[in-house]
Formats: sequence, C-alpha cells, structure tokens
Amino acid sequence: MARPTSGILRNETSAVSARGRLTLSNVSKNFDGTGVPAIQDITLECQPGEFVVVVGPSGCGKSTLLNIAAGMLKPEKGTAAIDGRLIQGPGPDRAMVFQDHGLFPWLSAAQNVEFGLKMAGFSRADRQQRVAEALRMVHLSRSAGKLVHELSGGMRQRVAIARSLVVDPAVLLMDEPFAALDAQTRTLLHQQLQELWVETKKTILFVTHSVGEAVRLADRIIVMHAHPGKIRAEIDIPLSHPRDIDSRDINDLVHRIRREIEDEVNRVNANLAPEDQWKPKAAGDLVDCSANLGSGI
Ligand SMILES: Nc1ncnc2c1ncn2[C@@H]1O[C@H](COP(=O)(O)OP(=O)(O)OP(=O)(O)O)[C@@H](O)[C@H]1O
Ligand SMILES: [Mg+2]
Repeated sequence: MARPTSGILRNETSAVSARGRLTLSNVSKNFDGTGVPAIQDITLECQPGEFVVVVGPSGCGKSTLLNIAAGMLKPEKGTAAIDGRLIQGPGPDRAMVFQDHGLFPWLSAAQNVEFGLKMAGFSRADRQQRVAEALRMVHLSRSAGKLVHELSGGMRQRVAIARSLVVDPAVLLMDEPFAALDAQTRTLLHQQLQELWVETKKTILFVTHSVGEAVRLADRIIVMHAHPGKIRAEIDIPLSHPRDIDSRDINDLVHRIRREIEDEVNRVNANLAPEDQWKPKAAGDLVDCSANLGSGI
C-alpha cells in the first residue's frame, strides 16, 4: 500500500499526545424504564488505537452501546467519556459508519465525502486536501467524480468510511458496516480496513454478527450476553495485522468464540417461546467458509 504523504487524518501515537481513549463506566440503558434493561452495567475501555469488536446475539444491545458512545443516546446510569471528557452528545471526535451507507445520491463520491467539512466551515483548500487523502485511503481516488448509482456496494461503503475519516475523528464507531456485502467484497474490505487502521491508528469499536469477521479484525473481542445486555467474555486476539484469512489460528479462534455465543443463544432461547427462538447455523459451517470466515448469528 502507498505510504501516506501527509500527517492529516491520523491519530498521534506517542504516549503524550495519543487520543481516542473511549471509556464506558457502569453504563445501563433501559428504554421503557421497566422490565429488562437493553444493556446493564457495561464497563469497557478502548485504548487509543485499539481495534475492539463486539459480537452477540440479535437484540443484546450492541447498537445501543455504540449509540451511547456516539452520544446519540444517553445512558440512565453510568458514564461514557472520550479522552477523559464526558460524552454529552455527538461530536467530531467520533464518527459512525452504518450498515446502510446513507450517501446522498445526487452528489458524487468526493462531494459526499466533502459534505460534512462544508457544514463545519472548513476552507476550500483544506477540504480538497482532506477529501483527496480520505479517498486515497479507501482506494477510490479514481472514482471521486462518480455518482452513487455508478459505484458498487463495496465502493459505496468505502465512500461512507472516507466520509467518516475526513473529519479526522479519534474514534470510529462501526455498526455492521459490511453486513450487506457479498463474501468476496467483505474479504477485500477486511483487508483494506486493516491497512487503513494500521495507517491511521484510529480507535475502532466495531459491531458484527460474524464471528469470523471479529476474529479477522479485532485486537480484542467483546462477547455480549442478552436480556439484559452484559459483557459475557473478553477475548484478546494476539495475532498481528493484516491477518491471513486461512490460518489455523484464525479458524481455532472462530470455533472457540462461536461456542461462547452458541452457549449464550441457548441460554436465552431457554426463556423464549419456540417461535421467538434463534437458531444459529452449525459451527461446522465455518470450516468451509474461508471467504467470509464464519456465518452470522
Ligand atoms: N429506540 C429504542 N426504543 C426502544 N427500545 C429499543 C430502542 N433501541 C433498541 N431498543 C431495544 O433494546 C434492545 C437492544 O437493541 P439493539 O439495537 O442495541 O440490539 P443489537 O444487539 O444491536 O441487535 P441487532 O444485532 O439485531 O442489531 C432490544 O430489545 C431493542 O428492542
Ligand atoms: Mg444492532
């Protein structure tokens, strides 16, 4: 990959100026104020430059957790902070990427990336430099002038990532950003996201249903517990980046983490009516699906 030509859009990594420490302390959220909270007593600290992936059954509170970190939801109990400052609402130090790219169809790729900078009052020269850098990072320099309908699904998601990077956030919050893509495109984007992360040193908090995706990307995996949403397990992934998709280590870890989640799904199912129960695919599916490294849950 081409080396960066400038220092914009990157987190400093020296101990003094490192940024992007995201701290959730005893955070709880109960939407209706009664019954079982969506999440309860979550304590999680992401270190500057760390890649943390959250997995867990549907409805266990992954998006709620991300929305609290984004400042779009307020917890009833506990606090969320970034670099020691309490999170009171959305801010330019955090950017979110969703499953749906949410691009404006009447704007080109570059104009979509530039939009937030315009709103924030950046000068034209600054905007041009940042947009060019962000598009280069997602390998879309040559598609800058294309409209959304002229981009593939993977390219649209890369524009969405560039749009989040361009404001130079300290933390990227990613909620199943590749869930709607085909297996090959996902594999390509796993590779590119790892390269981008190594280059920018952003802290990334990433949510997925795919255990394989989690093992491919994470420094640390948080396995959640449902009803109420709690942290069930934290697993460090001590493999260097970028990772070899076919390695034995990756497959062993996928199986181990998948077992944790299956246990959790079985525990939750025991309390549900048969029609509401989830049925994750058998772990055997994982062995042959190196393309996407594990089916969803
Ligand atoms: N705005 C809301 N109002 C009321 N309840 C909500 C709201 N958002 C989420 N919930 C509830 O909180 C719980 C957790 O939802 P959340 O979207 O965080 O789960 P999730 O783990 O992201 O699920 P999925 O994997 O399906 O995306 C669910 O029971 C959901 O119904
Ligand atoms: Mg969700």
